[in-house]
Parts: sequence; C-alpha cells; structure tokens
Amino acid sequence: MRFGAAYYPEHWPRERWPIDARMMQAAHFNTVRLAEFAWTRLEPDEDAFDFGWLDDAMELLGAHGVQTLLCTPTATPPAWVVEQSPDILPITPDGKLVNFGGRRHYCPTQTSYREHTARIVHAMGQHYATHPHVIAWQIDNELAGHVDQCYCDACQQAFQQWVQAQYGSLDAVNEAWGTDFWSEVFTDWTQIPAPRYMHAQHSPSLVLAWKRFYTDVWTDYFLFQKNLLRESGVTVPITTNLMGLFRDLDYYTHARALDFVAWDNYPNNYPAPAGKYESAFAHDLMRSVKDGKPYWVVEEQSGAPGWNQLGGRTGPGYMRLMTYQAIAHGGEGILYFRWRTCRFGVEQYWHGILQHDGRPNWRYAEVTRTGQELRALPDDLFTARTPTPVALLYSHDQLWAHGIISHVPGFDYVGEQLPIYGALREAGVDVDMVNEESDLTPYRVLIAPAWQLLPADTAEAVIDFVRHGGTLVLTYRSAVKDWDSVIWQDPLPGPLRDLLGITVDDYDALGVQQATVGVHGCGSFPLPAGLTGTLWADVITAEGADTEATFADGWYAGRPAITVNRFGDGQAWYIGTHLDSAFWQSFLKELLAQAHLPSADATSDGVEIAHRQGERRYTFVLNMQQIPGWVELAGTQTDLLTGDAVGPGKVALEPFGVRILT
Ligand code: GAL
Ligand code: ZN
Repeated sequence: MRFGAAYYPEHWPRERWPIDARMMQAAHFNTVRLAEFAWTRLEPDEDAFDFGWLDDAMELLGAHGVQTLLCTPTATPPAWVVEQSPDILPITPDGKLVNFGGRRHYCPTQTSYREHTARIVHAMGQHYATHPHVIAWQIDNELAGHVDQCYCDACQQAFQQWVQAQYGSLDAVNEAWGTDFWSEVFTDWTQIPAPRYMHAQHSPSLVLAWKRFYTDVWTDYFLFQKNLLRESGVTVPITTNLMGLFRDLDYYTHARALDFVAWDNYPNNYPAPAGKYESAFAHDLMRSVKDGKPYWVVEEQSGAPGWNQLGGRTGPGYMRLMTYQAIAHGGEGILYFRWRTCRFGVEQYWHGILQHDGRPNWRYAEVTRTGQELRALPDDLFTARTPTPVALLYSHDQLWAHGIISHVPGFDYVGEQLPIYGALREAGVDVDMVNEESDLTPYRVLIAPAWQLLPADTAEAVIDFVRHGGTLVLTYRSAVKDWDSVIWQDPLPGPLRDLLGITVDDYDALGVQQATVGVHGCGSFPLPAGLTGTLWADVITAEGADTEATFADGWYAGRPAITVNRFGDGQAWYIGTHLDSAFWQSFLKELLAQAHLPSADATSDGVEIAHRQGERRYTFVLNMQQIPGWVELAGTQTDLLTGDAVGPGKVALEPFGVRILT
C-alpha cells in the first residue's frame, strides 16, 4: 500500500523541508510524488544539470520513511528549450500557435522535442536508476491534457505514415473511408490531411482515424521515455497518470504500455462535480484498462479545487471516504494532490492537504487518521482483485465515433453508460469495463449501449458469447457501422441480425424535437409501467425475437421497442430507444436475478457497495452522503476498521462513513 501526496520541495524554503518530512511521517506517509514540473530546476541550461536539491529532498524524506514516485518533467519545457527549438510549440486545429507559458506547450511528434526529452530523461534515469528511495517512475504528467492533439506539419506527416501502415494502399484507404464523396479521393499519401479547420466537416472516417492515430502518438511518446529510462538502468515500475473518463486517449491501448495504472481523481472538480456513480465508474474503468490489476490514484482531491474560481465544497470525512472508494474499486496506492497549497502560480487556489500557511489543519488530521487506519489493514486487501461476471462495453472508438456524428441533440455516449452503470451498482454487482479487444469468456452478462461500430470479427465474438450462454444487452444505434464508421449496406443491425432476431427498418430521431414515445410491456418479462422513450426510436421488425415491449406512439405504434432472442444457450436483448435510470434499475435487477447473480445488501439511499476478492472476500460499504445511513446484513461480519462484529440486521453508517466487512 502506497500512501502520501504530490510534494513540491522547490516551492518552499529548505528550512521547511524537515518540518514537512516529520509531518508526513506522523501522517503515516510512505510515498511522495516529486519533480513532474521541475525541468528548469533540474536543467537550468542545456546540459547543466542540477540534481543536488532533489537528492537532498529525497534523502531527507527517505530518512523519514517516505519514498519517491519520481517524475520526468516533460509536461513543462522551460523557456530556454522553447527559445532554442520554437518548432516544438503545438498548433491548434485552426492553425493557432500554442505559446510558451502554462504547460504542454510541445508537440510530441517533433524530432527536436524528442531530442530535448532524451537529454533530460536520460540524465535523470542515469542519476536515479539505482536510488534506494525511488520506488517507481511517472512519465510526464497527464499526457494529452490541455493539448490533446497537435496539428502541425510534422503531425500531419506522421498521420499520413500511420494511415499507410494501417491500410497498406491508397485504394484500401479510399475504399475503407468512402472518399468518393465530395471529391475527397486521395491519389498520393501526402494529400491526406490532418483534420484541421475547414468550414464544413471532415469525413467521419478520417476524423476517427486521426483520433486513433493520436492515441498511438501519445503512447509512442510514453514508450520513448520508458525506453530511455530502461536504457539508463531503471528497473522499478514505470507509469504515467491517466485521467479517468478523459475522452481523447484510448486508455485500453495506452495502458498496455504502462507497468501499472496510475490516475488522477477529482470528484469535486470545477466547474461541475462528478455525478452520482461517476467516480466509481472512473475507478472501474481505470482498473479494467489494465485487466484488473490494482492501480494507484496519484492525485486524489484533498482540499477544494479551482484555478480561477473555487469549485468544490468538501467537508470533513470526504477525503477519507474518497480514499476508501479508491481502494474499494481496486486501488493499492493513494497520493493526495497536493501536500501544501501553492502560494503562487495558476493553481494558488487549488487546495492541498495543508493551507498556504502550512499549519496542521483538519485535513491533515483526517489524512493522519486515514493513514493510521490503512496501516492496520491486511496487505491482502490491497492486492485483492475484483472478479465479476458482469461487463459493460465502454469503448473509446465508440465514444469518438458518436462524438463525431452524434445523431440527435442530447445524445452522449457516456450519458448512455452512466444510468446503466448506476443500475448495476445498485443491483449489487461489481462491473468490469471491456472494449472490442477484451476477452469475453469471464463474463456472463455483457451490456453494450449504442455499440455502433461493430466489425465482422467482433460480431463473431459476440455471437459466440451468446451461443455459449451469455446474456447480451444492446441498445439503439448498435451494429450500424463498420470499424471505419461506414454504414452497413445490409439491413440493420448488420452482422447481428440473426443473433438479435430483428431487423431495424428505419428510425425516428426524437431528440431533435424533444419528442417522446410511450413504451408498453407486452411479454413475459416484468417491465415497469409508464416507460417513456426519448432521443431516438428504432422501427423494428421482429424476426424470431420475442417482443417484450412495443411503442405506443408515432407512426410505428405497436411495433417492437424491446426484444429478446434466445440464441444458442444464451439470450440477446435489443432496446430500441433511450430509457431512463428507473428503467435500467428495474430491468437489470430482474435480468441479474434471472441469471442467478447476487443481489446487493439493502442500504439507505446513497450508499455504495463494492467488493474485492483476495484470501478473503471484502465488502466495502461507503456512505456517499453527509447524512447517517445504513446497510442491512444477512449475517454477522467483521468490520476491519473497528474490529467489531456487526450484523445481522441494519448496521449504521456515519455521514460519509465507511465499513470494510469480511
Ligand atoms: C491535474 C494535474 C496537476 C494539477 C491538478 C490541479 O490535472 O495533473 O498537475 O494541475 O490537475 O489542477
Ligand atoms: Zn505536431
């Protein structure tokens, strides 16, 4: 278990460092994250390295039992680097230059930036390769944050090469993207544009390819640094900090390059705090993109966050609760952001554990208590996994494709996911996220909202999944397109027509007029009364599937709205409209019960439950609200935080209270 904070000794006088080290030790810290923005300090001028201050800080902290997650500082190239190589500055889609100042003012493709990167990373690697207090490395900081993609000539050229490597021939690209539209046929690789500003829209296939390309760009830049560290003799694990539900990087692909996942969690971010279950969802995604391996949160919100305005209201108990939520979903390391609030710079109101004044405060006391509790918990808890038979398809390719062409106002891919995710949590099951490349064999239930891009080989895997007993739930806008975002010429749902036993003949884009349609249950599966479809309605013909609900309005009144097809040993559901959380709660509860999957212990509203399975099974009960709550247990269990035997019956939870039961 790793516990600590991001620490910036370079922001405080040296006389303060020993006080910080003592306070950290007293708070049961064993880890700090250091140096991710300290390039000017480490290399004030080309090849003039100064590691002395960092050595001293690491030594002092190490002597207090606090080891280091060491970072490469490439998110913030110094002014002298930019002066020397102005070509590193990124270009926005509309051709603007991103200037020096702030951070991420670099293009990850530029050769000159690779050279600057190589110099600093290599020097750091060599200096710290065998340092006894360096336990892991973080490369850069939040890759793709602020400047997701650069549109400079070097990037455009790299894109052309990437497309060539992916498709082989120009004919193949023209065919795959359908460029024979608006005279976009390419006759030379150099004609393929980065999707820079233009007054109409670029081809959806091209924009999708560009997004995929850019995940590879950032992953390549990560691996470039990782290799430099390895060549320098670094043997400890190497990671970078991901951003949960960040939309511009395919984290399944990206995470393959990492030795373990680290990520930054700001549930109370500015301007909008995370919605119900959003943090849990992000934790599960961060665990899932690395096949369930325990992860670290390397920036956990501590004080109120905000740059220009303070966004979050957090009170006592919240930090501790968020810490346990991270562990509940598979975390094994928690570093808060940040140790002490900075007096200057853009983030002077982004609050850390300590205020600007550095005195022990209520947050410090809470962190200390949490650290003490964590120390007393069994090691097994932190390495335990989260085996679950239920998977939710969350795919960045789908997210992008839907984002490029979103069908109707109000449609959002993540917005389709969250009600389903919330309903699964309320039904008491843990959830893995999967994408098209995931192995489906561990799962019995797969829910895939708006699974739009569904190429033939994926379709085969899905058909196999159901044939062997799986339960599949798809919703409207599924199996519409191939992997290049080109629509099937066969009737929809393309390659899944047999599996689903339906044809989607047509559709009605309700969202434009904010129209609604009634949906009435008519089959044997119990559905709630008074359902209302919004956003979209598919006009369906059942061809072998059972109709469980029909539309009550529109020119397709009486035609199927919800169908299920028994196929092989399994069943495949299709839900032809957008339905709300209440539907999903009722539907999934019943579906899971029919599949004999466990149901949740009853709780008061706002209590989340998650499990980890190690030598023992651990049940985390988290009261996400600042009012008393309860959980109702069937038997007696031990609360690892208090040592008390609790249950059977109702067990109380304090406001923001936590119990870890086993
Ligand atoms: C994170 C970032 C940190 C800090 C924090 C608060 O996204 O990694 O360096 O900027 O946000 O804004
Ligand atoms: Zn570029």
